[in-house]
Amino acid sequence: MNNQEEYYQPEIETMPRKELEQLQVQRLKKTIEIAMQSPFYAKLYKEKGITPNTIKTINDISKLPFTTKEDLRNNYPFGLVATDMKNLVRLHSSSGTTGNPTVIVHTQKDLDNWANRIARCMYMVGVRNTDVFQNSSGYGMFTGGLGFQYGAERLGCLTVPAAAGNSLRQIKFIRDFGTTALHAIPSYMSRLYEVFVEQGLDPQKDTKLRTLFIGAEPHSDEQRKRIEEKFGAKAYNSFGMSEMSGPGVAFECKQQNGMHVWEDSFIVEILNPETLQPVPDGEYGEMVITSIDRDGMPLIRYRSRDLTRVIPGECPCGRTHKRLDRFRGRTDDMLILKGVNIFPMQIEKILMNYTQLSSDFLITLFTTGENDEMTIEVEINELISDRYEDLEKLNKAVTRALKDEILITPKVKFVEKGSLPRSDGKAVRVKDLRQKF
Ligand code: COA
Ligand code: AMP
Ligand code: ZN
Repeated sequence: MNNQEEYYQPEIETMPRKELEQLQVQRLKKTIEIAMQSPFYAKLYKEKGITPNTIKTINDISKLPFTTKEDLRNNYPFGLVATDMKNLVRLHSSSGTTGNPTVIVHTQKDLDNWANRIARCMYMVGVRNTDVFQNSSGYGMFTGGLGFQYGAERLGCLTVPAAAGNSLRQIKFIRDFGTTALHAIPSYMSRLYEVFVEQGLDPQKDTKLRTLFIGAEPHSDEQRKRIEEKFGAKAYNSFGMSEMSGPGVAFECKQQNGMHVWEDSFIVEILNPETLQPVPDGEYGEMVITSIDRDGMPLIRYRSRDLTRVIPGECPCGRTHKRLDRFRGRTDDMLILKGVNIFPMQIEKILMNYTQLSSDFLITLFTTGENDEMTIEVEINELISDRYEDLEKLNKAVTRALKDEILITPKVKFVEKGSLPRSDGKAVRVKDLRQKF
């Protein structure tokens, strides 16, 4: 797709729902056929007697078993690969050095589809090849980096891969290169604004920013509006997850009232997390999602653990693809800090490597100035040494090991045995005191 107009695809984006469902059925059948080339799905579907013919209508998807993060971990790294290794061109992996990380691999066609989807999202809110797009997402394994990079290049934007961190440099780039569109984690937008102000700058007057893409962590509509006021730019919610390639799964249109989930690439179900039965549109539940245009490693009925709902009714923009509401949390204990996903278990595993430390710890998330931070208080066993230098050395080693595992830098505090709060005798693990506007 080189023609600019093709990034708006009315024949797909406004396709009547009946036709869209037919397209989904056809792609789901094909996906089952592809998935069965992988050791994981071949075994699972053979055991359950599932073939592409199991699917006659879209509702037949409920006949298929779920896929979970544990399945990805247990079949690490390539047990769900559905094609010859020679066809794979990219691998993304979650963090996690203690347990098996999750790995997602792509063929060139998968990457092309992903880039086209992001180009479609950006085009939808008015970004064109005359825009200068800057990406403050982490690169490397974070899918918000390369994902947006290729999407923006596909659209023809002059693309600035600034990557995460170094706010002064971000601001210099925004000003020097005339950045008009920026992708950032919503909590980072607040930090960035703080640095603008510290420099005596006003992003409304001193930049050309017009469009902001914010996502990768939950945020309120209030928070979006505050970001828009501070930057004098429109901020659009962007949802993605690495298991579904990355960003570009669901995206707000100019109405800013829910994110259209691209149903030519994904089938989304919202299920009651306990009964695992569908809930009606408008009700919250866990999103279960199936990729229907991936060849390298399709995932079928993947339990996202994210809670959201389908916004009932039609969108005035004319697009027929369902709209997802803001995400309301998760059904597991995953935390998102600075756009990085963290499980308390990762922290526990690291702390357990140190005999000086007990297994009782408390994670506190809080905001200082405009920075989100994490403190980990951990009870120390009998003092092996109370020499300041020894404790300082231990603290440095623990902090380093934690940073290697969770990719952000926590503040580690050693506290006396028995001093952390307990409820029903058990240690309380997480306190989230972050200011959410
Ligand atoms: N995105 C971009 N930059 C961020 C950020 C975020 N979410 N959160 C913090 N930063 C900035 C900080 O403001 C700081 O720069 P500054 O002091 O010049 O303002 C710099 O990154 C380092 O932050 P600090 O809090 O000291 O570091 P950390 O070791 O705890 O975290 C990060 C390191 C920020 C690099 C890491 O959290 C990260 O890579 N986050 C981005 C994740 C991402 O892109 N997710 C998208 C997934 S699709
Ligand atoms: P990752 O796999 O690192 O891209 O992280 C994916 C997870 O980030 C999702 O499962 C959500 O929990 C969260 N997430 C991504 N985008 C958003 C968003 N726009 N709003 C709320 N949560 C989000
Ligand atoms: Zn719309």
